[in-house]
Amino acid sequence: MIAGPLRILLVEDNLGDVRLLQEMFSTERAGSYEITSLPRLGLALNHLAKGNVDIVLLDLGLPDEEGIETVRRVRKLAPDVPLIVLTGRDDDEAVAEAMLEGAQDYLVKGQIENRALPRALRYAIERFRLVSRAALTTMELERRVREKDLLLSEIHHRVKNSLQVVSSLISLEATRIKDPSMTEMLRSTQNRIRSMASIHRTLYQSKDFGHVDFKEFLLSFVPSLIQAYSTHPEAVQLEIAVGEVRLPIDAAIPCGLIVNELISNALKHAFPEGRKGTIRIDFSHDQYNHASLSVADDGIGIPEEVDFELGETLGLQLVHLLSGQIGGTLNVSKSSPTRFVVRFPLAV
Ligand SMILES: Nc1ncnc2c1ncn2[C@@H]1O[C@H](COP(=O)(O)OP(=O)(O)OP(=O)(O)O)[C@@H](O)[C@H]1O
Ligand SMILES: [Mg+2]
Repeated sequence: MIAGPLRILLVEDNLGDVRLLQEMFSTERAGSYEITSLPRLGLALNHLAKGNVDIVLLDLGLPDEEGIETVRRVRKLAPDVPLIVLTGRDDDEAVAEAMLEGAQDYLVKGQIENRALPRALRYAIERFRLVSRAALTTMELERRVREKDLLLSEIHHRVKNSLQVVSSLISLEATRIKDPSMTEMLRSTQNRIRSMASIHRTLYQSKDFGHVDFKEFLLSFVPSLIQAYSTHPEAVQLEIAVGEVRLPIDAAIPCGLIVNELISNALKHAFPEGRKGTIRIDFSHDQYNHASLSVADDGIGIPEEVDFELGETLGLQLVHLLSGQIGGTLNVSKSSPTRFVVRFPLAV
């Protein structure tokens, strides 16, 4: 609260109005108010610049400034001083404009009641304090959110970099190994790590760090995977039909790994000896809030004897396990075309 008299700056050129207002204040307790009355905006701004004002009462028709511009100039110079505008009758538009520019209240000249005046002043000051405090809290919260966003972005960036380092280490290891089946195993591991790094890259480049734009991930990751596998990438056509689906990070990583396994399999097994064909990815979400991820190819088909639940090989076992991890169901057609569909619930 303000200690001592309330320092009022009355900006009004009509001497009659000035006298009237001064009389009203004089009926209040002695020493409650200290009024400085000035007839021009220029003089008022000079006075305001000294900083000894608790509240401004401002006429909107002064000799050196008119209308809303009067409010703007006072607000600009003294944004932390509450302001009440004095208007004539039927000046609703000017009042609305003034309030939008940050005036706390208005008084209609000729209709001011003795007792209403001190109350209007008190309310204007109180309202101003509340609004300023709310604005400060909002600013502080926004600052903290920005800081957290930056931190999260940095973390995803570092995770991606670390995964890339691991991937490079495996690559180096692979060059020293002579056994082709071991080299192949290392390459698979490397791609699994690259798919996770790619999810983290998508995350730190997006504005929403809790969710991955899966379309963006697919469009950047899958072509790079094809490039990495194929000795003749032009033989395999890629079709990606994806709608907008944003996945929470704990679903995005398993989904990214599933895509990696299925696309790798199609590239490794479906088109032997330069056979031509198409790999198609569909990704959509339905009205039941489930997402559907489908990877299909029109290659030679999966041999009958392959059992991906009990199988010895890691790839299809992983697809099975990861589907379960995200609460999904897996449907497989082994040939014509070979198709894997994972349907899983999206968290609300
Ligand atoms: N799209 C496909 N087209 C034809 N055969 C496939 C396809 N996907 C899988 N297969 C067959 O299923 C087998 C099992 O696949 P899986 O991914 O489990 O193992 P992998 O690819 O051989 O090795 P890795 O563990 O490195 O993935 C493959 O060896 C292959 O014979
Ligand atoms: Mg595989």
